[in-house]
Amino acid sequence: MKAMRGLLLTLAVLAPARALDFRSIMTYLQGDPQFSVLVGLLHSAHLDVVLEAPGAIFTLFAPTNTAFQNLSPSVMSQISASPALLQKVLMTHVLDSAFISIFFKNDRLEQTLGGGRLRINLYGHTYTAGGAAITQGDIVLRNGVLHVVDNVILPPEGDVLTQILMDDAEFEDLTAALAVTNLLDDLELDSMTLFAPLNTAFQEYYSHGLPTNMTQVTDMLLNHVVNGTYYTAGIKTGDSVRTLSGHQLHFTKNGNKLIVNGHATDGDIFATNGVIHVMTAVLDPSGT
Ligand SMILES: *[C@@H]1O[C@H](CO)[C@@H](O)[C@H](O)[C@H]1NC(C)=O
Ligand SMILES: *[C@@H]1O[C@H](CO)[C@@H](O)[C@H](O)[C@H]1NC(C)=O
Repeated sequence: MKAMRGLLLTLAVLAPARALDFRSIMTYLQGDPQFSVLVGLLHSAHLDVVLEAPGAIFTLFAPTNTAFQNLSPSVMSQISASPALLQKVLMTHVLDSAFISIFFKNDRLEQTLGGGRLRINLYGHTYTAGGAAITQGDIVLRNGVLHVVDNVILPPEGDVLTQILMDDAEFEDLTAALAVTNLLDDLELDSMTLFAPLNTAFQEYYSHGLPTNMTQVTDMLLNHVVNGTYYTAGIKTGDSVRTLSGHQLHFTKNGNKLIVNGHATDGDIFATNGVIHVMTAVLDPSGT
């Protein structure tokens, strides 16, 4: 207990410009109306008791009420209907150690309370946890650290490849092209971003003429793969990244929507080894 006080005191000193707050994580949340949804859900999943366990310390990535409102209605109703899923989602937000931002490392996976992994990313001045931006970090409390996030963190269901292969209805043309060019192995990176054109995007692309050789197809496909995880929340207008084809992708943001080389994307799909951005167009490196 004494050692824990010492640790938290040290964290409070290291965390920039914050007064010591001797409230517990649960008491802090209960005192701030923007966390009322989270408090209710923690209670129904019996995790409020876990967070109050004597002597234990935690890091909580705390979604605001707005974050819960941003969840799609279908996801929210799935979570509400399944106590097991609710508990899994909530535990994705909790680490069983005190973790302030100076200890964050880009693209590092941290063990969560549920036994899953949470990816932390540092982008210039924005930090993300599981793809959700941290809007207020390093609130050091009596039994741990709280970081406010602007989205609910959803535990990924599989790696990038699995998620694409699972969804024939949307990505059949992409997987077919990756298979014929032997590029499926290139989707096994530890940390990666895949810009995944929908079947409709490929139909549009092929309607302008079929590729004439394999080199052209390979170059086009590798132009959709980036080494490293770039969530929408970590990208700002003017950023660019180099793809595995060696070409640059240029980003703009329209609110929370990501636009790549002038083409709209349709949301992040979270994966254990990175993120997928659903594309409404093929990113042709020859620039048409
Ligand atoms: C493949 O096709 C592209 C585009 O038509 C062309 O520029 C390139 O030289 C071709 N490469 C080979 C190896 O034939
Ligand atoms: C991806 O980046 C990591 C870390 O910078 C590096 O070790 C790895 O070789 C890269 N992989 C590819 C395919 O570029």
